[in-house]
Amino acid sequence: MGLFDLAGKTAIVTGSSRGIGRAIAETLAQAGAKVVISSRKAAACEAVAAAIRAAGGKAEAVACNVGDKGQLQRLVAEARARCGGIDILVCNAGINPYYGPLAGIEDAAFERIMTVNVESALWLASLVLPDMVARKGGAIILIASIAGLRGSTGLGAYAISKAAGMQLARNLALEWGKHNIRVNCIAPGLIKTDFARALWEDKALMERRMAQTPLGRIGEPADIAGVALMLAADAGRYVTGQTIVVDGGITIA
Ligand code: NAI
Repeated sequence: MGLFDLAGKTAIVTGSSRGIGRAIAETLAQAGAKVVISSRKAAACEAVAAAIRAAGGKAEAVACNVGDKGQLQRLVAEARARCGGIDILVCNAGINPYYGPLAGIEDAAFERIMTVNVESALWLASLVLPDMVARKGGAIILIASIAGLRGSTGLGAYAISKAAGMQLARNLALEWGKHNIRVNCIAPGLIKTDFARALWEDKALMERRMAQTPLGRIGEPADIAGVALMLAADAGRYVTGQTIVVDGGITIA
């Protein structure tokens, strides 16, 4: 089996109806994995699954709001029923409903960010870990952010949630390493998706940002997908508990 071959593997990717999640799902499918496309709206999931099948890949669609534990249980049960046990989990769905100083955030918004961005990953990991133990291995990938590596004035709660994801990966990597289960984070920089639209549509901000970015451009969803494939596949077999920064170099500049 090749270093980047995922034939015979099943992967769940949350938030995969568009953006980074979709690019990751497409790349895992191209490598031979059966992918479960999941986001809140069933029609959007089905459209992506159909496009992957039309391109010769294997894909199923299961709608799921990751902030709801019951829906996560249903997602895993459906994935298991349709595809067999789970080998790869990508926790990608994330939200940021608040921009501004931390002192001004409503309790409900803070809790929602923590539930969707952090706790859901723990819930989902706990649901698929028994499959991975039975299969003598697995890979869990959490999509964090460079926001979780630095202080922030506007994205404070989001940044806390992304830093927490990095710690969750380290903790789970320690707990499950003996079962050959690897848990890692990817921390993207600015990527051109709907999620970051307010940033990349701001011309002045983008000019400053590009001047600070060694590779001189904004990221595309596909820039994240290759690293996810490496972490999911045998190529990443000795990597665990890490956060891999994929940001065009802005954090080292
Ligand atoms: P996007 O807005 O293009 O896609 C987000 C996806 O998640 C969509 O499929 C959406 O339907 C789904 N989603 C949102 N809330 C959900 C929920 N409660 N349950 C299930 N699905 C849900 O966003 P993008 O940029 O692809 O974001 C993906 C991840 O990447 C997020 O965790 C985000 O924090 C992270 N990220 C994004 C960066 C960027 O600049 N775009 C930078 C760093 C991290």
